[in-house]
Amino acid sequence: MTGPATGAAPGPVTVPTHWYNVVAELAGYVAEERRPALQPGRHGIRPQLPLSIYRQSVSDEPFIEIPAAVRAEYERWRPTPLVRAHRLERLLGTPARIYYKCEAASPSGSHKLNSAIAQAYYYKKAGIRGLVTGTGAGQWGTALSMACAAYDLELTVYMVRCSYEQKPQRRVLMELNGARVLPSPSTTTEAGRSILAADPDCPGSLSVASSEAHEIAQEGDGIRYSAGSGDNHVLLHQTVIGQEAVAQMAALGEHADTVVAALGAGSNFAGIAMPFHRQSRLTGRPTRLVAVEPTSCPKLTRGVYAWDHHDALGNTPMSKMYTLGHTFIPSPIHAGGLRYHGAAPVISWMYREGLIDAVACGQHQVFEAGVTFARAEQLIPAPESAHAIAHVIDRAIRARETGTPETILFNLSGHGLMDLGSYDKYLNGLLESDAAAEAEVEQALSRLATAGV
Ligand SMILES: Cc1ncc(COP(=O)(O)O)c(C=O)c1O
Repeated sequence: MTGPATGAAPGPVTVPTHWYNVVAELAGYVAEERRPALQPGRHGIRPQLPLSIYRQSVSDEPFIEIPAAVRAEYERWRPTPLVRAHRLERLLGTPARIYYKCEAASPSGSHKLNSAIAQAYYYKKAGIRGLVTGTGAGQWGTALSMACAAYDLELTVYMVRCSYEQKPQRRVLMELNGARVLPSPSTTTEAGRSILAADPDCPGSLSVASSEAHEIAQEGDGIRYSAGSGDNHVLLHQTVIGQEAVAQMAALGEHADTVVAALGAGSNFAGIAMPFHRQSRLTGRPTRLVAVEPTSCPKLTRGVYAWDHHDALGNTPMSKMYTLGHTFIPSPIHAGGLRYHGAAPVISWMYREGLIDAVACGQHQVFEAGVTFARAEQLIPAPESAHAIAHVIDRAIRARETGTPETILFNLSGHGLMDLGSYDKYLNGLLESDAAAEAEVEQALSRLATAGV
């Protein structure tokens, strides 16, 4: 993957020594939006973060040092390759130059390990015995199971039921690393039981899994909730991606006109995009930052900017964010990591201010893009990452049609080797309809409008 034939970047790019905290540099990002933990949840919850992580999440420092032990872990697989997708360019006949940052090269197969390792380190240092979390397609659960194995922490993972059924190998991978994995909604929590009572066939969602995980964490006993995305500290940890990419593009003498990444709750997008946002501010040379979400869960492009909870039952504190409503259960699309009702507060604020862009893609277009990329580049993208690819292909075709060259960088956030069942469905014409999923979004939006949100 890294030889000259594939266009991997040369140059002495090293693992960053600091994470980049964009929140500290956003003039106008007002205090109550920056401190969402002060907004109470319906029932109130015990704080979950160790002081070390809490300090990061409210820090006014633009750069926060990465502990030497965490950096040493990162050095096992970072810097990840920056690759030029020559074959995809040729296939599309585009004058666009397409690069991807390959987070699929991490031991867990996705970007999620960047935060999992950091969180496991801090929780362990704080004397915590174990963690509990929710996962969608299982990329976060996999990464956290590896990090917990490395730091000798127990782990329970509530995995969204539809993904648990679509991607059975994910459960094995997490169990192999010592985690206990339960399909969510489950009968092990009141949250799960209440949701199953209302809908025994509920496919689950990240906000439901999060309600269950929070409930377990409330029971105390040395177990804490760990978030896989959305919170400031998770976005922060992911910025190693963008910092490396800024340096790798510079080493190639390239300027990224556009940076594209899939958006679940926002850590993947923030991870690659925020360092480019900083570079643009410093150099005055613009880079368009585009978040790509599914049409079945389009919080930025269709949602409302409002105070909302992070979990389905409304037990977590509220944040101001673009949301489809915390009770919204998206259709069981195969990009399970993108089935979250809201976008990270800081990403939401930047979107409202016009600092970033967003587009939505349907799942058929996404899988077509995933297959096109796989055949051209010999790397199977996760369905989440294929959302970014779908938009990149759109832009590359537009560049061909208008004759306008453009340099596009996207984050290949994970590989799809555990998603072959989903690709199989696509290849055999069995993928679920986009129209039905989009109709459910319309219903959610009209519920919000009726409720006056
Ligand atoms: C491979 C992959 N890419 C992107 C995402 C979206 O992540 P985020 O919530 O960090 O935006 C996920 C989420 O699970 C994922 O697994």
